[in-house]
Amino acid sequence: MIRFLHQEREVAIEDVPADTTVLDYLREHRGLIGTKEGCASGDCGACTVVLAKATEQGLQYVPINACIAPLGSIHGTQLISVEDIKEGATWHPVQRAMIECHASQCGFCTPGFVMSLFALYHADIKGEREEILEALGGNLCRCTGYRPIIDAAEQALAHVEDDKFSRRAQATLDQLRALKDTESETAALESTHSHYFRPGNADHVAQLLAQHPEARLVAGGTDLFLENTQSLTPLPVLIDVSAASDLHHIDCDTEHMRFGAAVTHRACQAAVITDYPELTELIERFGSLQIRSQGTLAGNIANASPIGDWPPVLLALGGAIELRSSAGTRLVPLDDFFLEYRKTEQQAGEFVATVILPRRKKNLFLRAYKISKRFEDDISSVCGVFALGLEGDRVTEAKVAFGGMAAIPKRGTSVELALTGLDLVSDSIDAAAAAIANDFEPIDDARASAQYRLTVAARLLTRLQQEYIGDSATRVHPLGISQAGVSSHG
Ligand SMILES: Cc1cc2nc3c(=O)[nH]c(=O)nc-3n(C[C@H](O)[C@H](O)[C@H](O)COP(=O)(O)OP(=O)(O)OC[C@H]3O[C@@H](n4cnc5c(N)ncnc54)[C@H](O)[C@@H]3O)c2cc1C
Ligand code: FES
Ligand code: FES
Repeated sequence: MIRFLHQEREVAIEDVPADTTVLDYLREHRGLIGTKEGCASGDCGACTVVLAKATEQGLQYVPINACIAPLGSIHGTQLISVEDIKEGATWHPVQRAMIECHASQCGFCTPGFVMSLFALYHADIKGEREEILEALGGNLCRCTGYRPIIDAAEQALAHVEDDKFSRRAQATLDQLRALKDTESETAALESTHSHYFRPGNADHVAQLLAQHPEARLVAGGTDLFLENTQSLTPLPVLIDVSAASDLHHIDCDTEHMRFGAAVTHRACQAAVITDYPELTELIERFGSLQIRSQGTLAGNIANASPIGDWPPVLLALGGAIELRSSAGTRLVPLDDFFLEYRKTEQQAGEFVATVILPRRKKNLFLRAYKISKRFEDDISSVCGVFALGLEGDRVTEAKVAFGGMAAIPKRGTSVELALTGLDLVSDSIDAAAAAIANDFEPIDDARASAQYRLTVAARLLTRLQQEYIGDSATRVHPLGISQAGVSSHG
């Protein structure tokens, strides 16, 4: 059984299929049709709802895409949908601002915008434009009503006052903490031939995997649930790693950062950026706030997509993962993890328990470039990560990895060889750029042609050199410009 709060009341659910989404629950089980289904793939934001979670610092309001969020994953949280935020006949301040700024255009996108703004209203932020753009990055408006929506956000954030949620915060926290304690060891959702398990620790994950070899693992569901909503593949047996309390850790020692399998992109951001500020742009352009709040680093690696953004980062920085099973744990360098298209070193009964990133080395010059059709909320056509060890301006060690250039995320060993020994100020980088064609044979697909991928990957080497010598004109993102200065010779 799962238990969560909805409209201040405790809801308990057991007898529904494991692949029921939060959107299915709202629209089909509860008849609450304010939350819309636009794309059913996490892309448009029409289905945005907010989960209030109990943390040590108090309540955290997390926007998610209900269309791909497993219902089983919301145990112990408060589910807030667009119907819930009005107080009697009085609009919530974000709704009022949407009306007053003429920002409410179509009935599809508007509820999603409102909920993203509701999460922002409760976030610990300054109300700056950058924060608003980040919060709205996962919401599409096809009628180009974006400017009034941003105006509405600015208006609502200019005078944040207590709403019914902040007034009830302590009572909600108490209710949520009590719910957490009701976690059971048996399947959380159970119906005919369908089970959703929420194991409380990593040992239990391993045990369940051994007992249910047919099960699929789920963390955020931001990849997995698309199999259900887009390809209509049933997911009858699911094991949710995000329920395991010992998989939420972020541990840093002098050598490594270790991220448990349940750590979301949003949760790992601060630790990663402290060591590697050059990754700020890549992380902020990963999906949307909804996707980063739901999806995990481990899920991105285990998914083994050739166009995933984290694999090239971990390949270039010498990362590794820990695979765990009922037989024990083994360490696998990321260099050995991806075998062929969507085939990895992970064996039956194993799961990714930890993702390991080395701490920053001295004299590293790092760049991560994401090339996609849209700046926000888009999958990479090409993602190139360059980690160069330097003595003065000379490259003494080069690790270069690409996504989108082969059937797996892959290192470019010829490029690395061509870069090693190069003086980044006085030597030409053309030979290293030409070596791209030796290392990679990309394919044509809907995102980009093979020729485009080869050309753009080679041009990224020119960009790398330009940025090294201090030319920030290659950047469109302001963070990138400042990071170029921070990181050049760190
Ligand atoms: C709108 C949208 C935008 C996106 N943008 C990006 C982007 O910019 N860059 C990018 O790289 N990706 C992007 N993605 C893909 C996805 O969000 C990421 O890959 C995410 O990190 C997956 O994590 P998850 O926790 O949701 O994985 P899930 O969907 O839960 O799982 C993914 C796969 O890994 C398996 N799995 C999950 N956890 C484990 C584990 N611990 N051990 C072993 N197997 C496991 C699952 O069985 C499944 O096969 C996007 C997706 C959407 C829908
Ligand atoms: S319906 Fe489009 S993101 Fe969920
Ligand atoms: S609000 Fe829906 S298209 Fe603009």
